[in-house]
Amino acid sequence: MTLTKEILRAIRQLRAEEVVALPTETVYGLAGNAYASTTVQKIFALKGRPTFNPLIVHYHRVEDIAEDVIMTPLAQKLAKNFWPGPFTLVLERRTGSHLSPCVSGGLDTVAVRVPAHTLFQEILKGVGVPLAAPSANPSGFLSPTRALHVQRFFPSLLVVAEEEGKCQYGLESTVIDARDEEPRLLRQGAIPVGQIQDVLKNNVELSLTSGSSPGQLLQHYAPRKPLRYDAKRVFSGEALLAFGQPLGGSYRHMVNLSCTANLQEAAHNLFDALHSLDQTDAKSIAVMPIPQKGIGVAINDRLQRAARYS
Ligand code: TXA
Ligand code: MG
Repeated sequence: MTLTKEILRAIRQLRAEEVVALPTETVYGLAGNAYASTTVQKIFALKGRPTFNPLIVHYHRVEDIAEDVIMTPLAQKLAKNFWPGPFTLVLERRTGSHLSPCVSGGLDTVAVRVPAHTLFQEILKGVGVPLAAPSANPSGFLSPTRALHVQRFFPSLLVVAEEEGKCQYGLESTVIDARDEEPRLLRQGAIPVGQIQDVLKNNVELSLTSGSSPGQLLQHYAPRKPLRYDAKRVFSGEALLAFGQPLGGSYRHMVNLSCTANLQEAAHNLFDALHSLDQTDAKSIAVMPIPQKGIGVAINDRLQRAARYS
């Protein structure tokens, strides 16, 4: 990959311990040197994120991760299958790790991930340190999947553009606590739970009731407009977020997540669709039902949180 001026500039700024917005295969991240506490604190401040809600640290290579956390046999197995990719492991921090304690939000664990995105990987390699990167939205707001979404939130930041326009998966990574023999699901995400169970070849219970991330209590991925989930009809003044064959009605604004009712495509379009319906003059957003299977589970997780808090 040839490094464009923009990528070289991002590398320079990150080396100078500044914060830069970068695309990943899931959503955009607000990235900064994970060793530098002042940089990590700047990320928290930009997002308005409570300091007890820890950040994910991104690495260039799986081998580098073992310097900072204790890789259990379970973690190794999952890493082999899902890295690089939209998958995060929570593991015990190693004594002697140089990571800023701020990334852990007061816990003795660290969330780590090896992203698959080529451009993000090039930047990680160029900077030469792991990068802490939460989603590039103010705490509680919709996650960004396009450069434009990030620019609206943070006009003064360097935002590296996603070459394909929009992040591939469109939903955040799946988060698993792999400190013990039994995995615990902390966040539904781009890798469906069924795929994880297939790899582990046992009937591990992977439901969110077994535990949750500090962030899951707070984050609500919410648009500014109220969101009505599982809509069977569209009321006057509502915009429609459709899936498959749209509901009838006289609405003025509609975005279809996938005309062919494809869940992968719906995930890819989800946040972008919510960002654009949020910009319309509709008073609220009605969302058609999404099947609760595969990546649909994570789509419903985000929509339910958005609906609950909007
Ligand atoms: O796909 C993603 O994961 C994106 C891209 C940018 O990589 N990042 C992302 O970060 O979604 P963020 O900060 O928006 O969400 C991180 C989630 C939060 O729910 C947080 O509470 C949880 O991971 N988390 C981070 N560190 C943790 C830890 N040590 N223990 C438990 N949960 C943790
Ligand atoms: Mg987030």
